[in-house]
Amino acid sequence: MVNTVSMSAPSDTQRMEKIVSLCKRRGFVFQSSEIYGGLNGLWDYGPLGVELKRNLKNYWWRVIVHERDDVVGMDGSILTHPAVLKASGHVEGFADLMVDCRLTNERFKADQIPFQEGTIFTYESARDAMPSDDGLLALAQLAETDQEPQINKDISMSDAVSLGLRIAQRRNLFISAPTNEPESVEQFFLDLLPELLRNPKSEWEERFRLGYSIPPRRVCGDSFRVLVRPGESDSRAKKTARLFYQKRGLRLPVLPQPSKERVSQTQEFNPENGAELTAPRPFNLMFQTQLGASSDPSSIAYLRPETAQSIFVQFKNILEVSRKKLPFGIAQIGKAFRNEINPRNFTFRSREFEQMELEYFCRPEQGMELLEYWKEERLTFYENIGIPRSKLHVLTVPDEERAFYSKGTYDIEYDFPFGRQELEGVAYRTDYDLSQHQKASGKALEYFDEETKQRFVPHVVEPSAGVDRTVLALICEAYSEDQAPDEKGKMETRVVLRFHPRLAPIKCGVFPLLKNNSQLVAKAKAIVELLRPHMTVFYDESGAIGRRYRRQDEIGTPFGLTVDFETLGEKDPALRDTVTLRDRDSMKQERVAIQDLPAILRERLA
Ligand code: GAP
Repeated sequence: MVNTVSMSAPSDTQRMEKIVSLCKRRGFVFQSSEIYGGLNGLWDYGPLGVELKRNLKNYWWRVIVHERDDVVGMDGSILTHPAVLKASGHVEGFADLMVDCRLTNERFKADQIPFQEGTIFTYESARDAMPSDDGLLALAQLAETDQEPQINKDISMSDAVSLGLRIAQRRNLFISAPTNEPESVEQFFLDLLPELLRNPKSEWEERFRLGYSIPPRRVCGDSFRVLVRPGESDSRAKKTARLFYQKRGLRLPVLPQPSKERVSQTQEFNPENGAELTAPRPFNLMFQTQLGASSDPSSIAYLRPETAQSIFVQFKNILEVSRKKLPFGIAQIGKAFRNEINPRNFTFRSREFEQMELEYFCRPEQGMELLEYWKEERLTFYENIGIPRSKLHVLTVPDEERAFYSKGTYDIEYDFPFGRQELEGVAYRTDYDLSQHQKASGKALEYFDEETKQRFVPHVVEPSAGVDRTVLALICEAYSEDQAPDEKGKMETRVVLRFHPRLAPIKCGVFPLLKNNSQLVAKAKAIVELLRPHMTVFYDESGAIGRRYRRQDEIGTPFGLTVDFETLGEKDPALRDTVTLRDRDSMKQERVAIQDLPAILRERLA
């Protein structure tokens, strides 16, 4: 039985880590190109992930297209004519403001930088503490071998210092050893080099003297700012600035005195390391490619950033062939691509993802009412796939954040372990898209109303959901841990994915009690064949029966069937051709006739 006192809930970060690890371990989601180090923001779905995803898409299609008279489907191309995306505003405006860390080059969305306080240290420039590479090399050669310097050998600063010390020792020069501070290293070389140049002792030293003079020091004129936050040491500013100048070619940067300024609200610094960020600049999120062999600008195409535009562009064709009357919708499920600046939170923000979009066309006066209607429909959809209403939230997007053409937008959000985040947008987009395409293409995209004899461009309400985000929400919602007895009755932690049976990747596990009993095995295999036309089934004969149940619990299989000796009628002839049916969530077992299984399971899955 399930122990009703659940284990202490893991923290949300821990919970997310467990979910990500389970997804990989059991074959839901893998990182794309993992064996080559992975591609950031791209994911591959494994055998169970693809089933879950398909079940979700099939259910959406069933509810939105098959069960309605007023919606038809389409499947548009991913590569998109630039004129389409120019007219829709994506070429000009589909951009995020981004900033780069001047130290690490890491890129952030500008609006994701938190406000910070602290002291800004400003360094106007820096110069190198060292003599040139050639000079160091000559020194090294002198100290090491007394051979002619070879200019193509590299030498590290610490090597140069230790060799310099050795030379000083050999010549009985009293020069104190430098500390790690660049200023001290610089002083060391300034003391050593003139001495060597003045006082050669060998033929090579003579050549060194003749051939080498203290070169001008390298200088980097870039200014750089560091934010030191309350509680952090001021020395962090110096350390960070040195790294910055080292990346710009100085080997041992000597810093000038910085100026300091206190700030209470700034977004100009990297929250991780305090380094200055570049000024925000727009970054278009679309992936561009080239059609055919020509590199002519006329061959440019884009990977679509949303599925919606192909629906608008095919509006006239679909209206004609479907002969639908307003209001009616066109639905599409398909890939979309966005070069997200910061892909994160597992699959939540990816660069390649799938959308399930409906464009529901209507008369202008119906727009606001249909916006409410579709918001409610979509909330019901999520409840029907096992996401409780209490975890869903409707955000009314405020006027200043809404697209200028939208008269009303709702975001449907879900409480992910990493915070409350958008699952779907439901937007009343007015007649903006069709009007834009009508203007740009010169083709009429109007609707003729037989009753009023009027022609007009329809308005549209758009529920736009993310497949990958919903799959992630389903996994997060389903993940649970409880306590259950093992084979010997000892309580152990059980990991269960409590998927709604409709969404579960595998619907039923079938287990012969013993794998070396041919009668049990044959019966179990016959049950697999009986159920396979109706649902996904998994046959497992290896390991103790309890272990087999646990393996299915962990991937969310709602039902388990065990074929035992009673099935063979060995104990009680009345039980011949019956099996135990185990429920994943309650772990209750009941005895059912094999012939009734398809009907019983189909009913419970519906
Ligand atoms: N046609 C409207 C449109 O595309 P959107 O809010 O940009 O609107 C709709 O996207 C949905 O697509 C989002 O609510 C989300 O579920 C999904 N989505 C958007 N960007 C995504 C990304 N980078 N990764 C995963 N899903 C994403």
